[in-house]
Amino acid sequence: MKEPKQLSVSAIENGTVIDHIPANNLFKVIQILGLDHIDNQITFGTNLESKRLGKKAIIKIADIFFEEQDINRIALVAPDAKLNIIKGYEVVEKAVVEVPDEIVGIAKCVNPKCITNFESVTTRFRVVDKKPVSLKCHYCEKITDQEHLSII
Ligand code: CTP
Ligand code: ZN
Repeated sequence: MKEPKQLSVSAIENGTVIDHIPANNLFKVIQILGLDHIDNQITFGTNLESKRLGKKAIIKIADIFFEEQDINRIALVAPDAKLNIIKGYEVVEKAVVEVPDEIVGIAKCVNPKCITNFESVTTRFRVVDKKPVSLKCHYCEKITDQEHLSII
């Protein structure tokens, strides 16, 4: 292990650390990953100093190792998130998130007339651009861009 340093959120023995989450999207990340429905130990810190993001948040989830396609769902709200896989207190793997090719749920279609906005139909988009993000609705084919993106 590297030089010990002061951690704002305690180290974990095994699990996943998601760092560099924009502070204002912390709760969206929690929602997208369904962290409010699991029994594992979760610690988080928010409004921490970050040179790049201004204020960042970090989440540490004990004993969970996400599938790539599940964790990538957070890329819409935390495009610069860094994943650290922890085993036996050591960082054994680092990864970044990438916007998936398809988004199911999570985002709202910009078109007020879209069926997903007045019936209980799960939204579904094809990702036509990843940065900045641009989503094409499976139902109405309208484009929802980064600027108009809102999370359900
Ligand atoms: N971490 C943890 N528990 C451990 C080891 C690490 O919670 N047992 C956390 C650290 O607090 C840090 C992240 O995992 O937020 C990455 O750890 P490390 O690579 O040691 O830190 P940095 O070098 O600061 O990582 P980077 O600059 O890549 O973000
Ligand atoms: Zn639509």
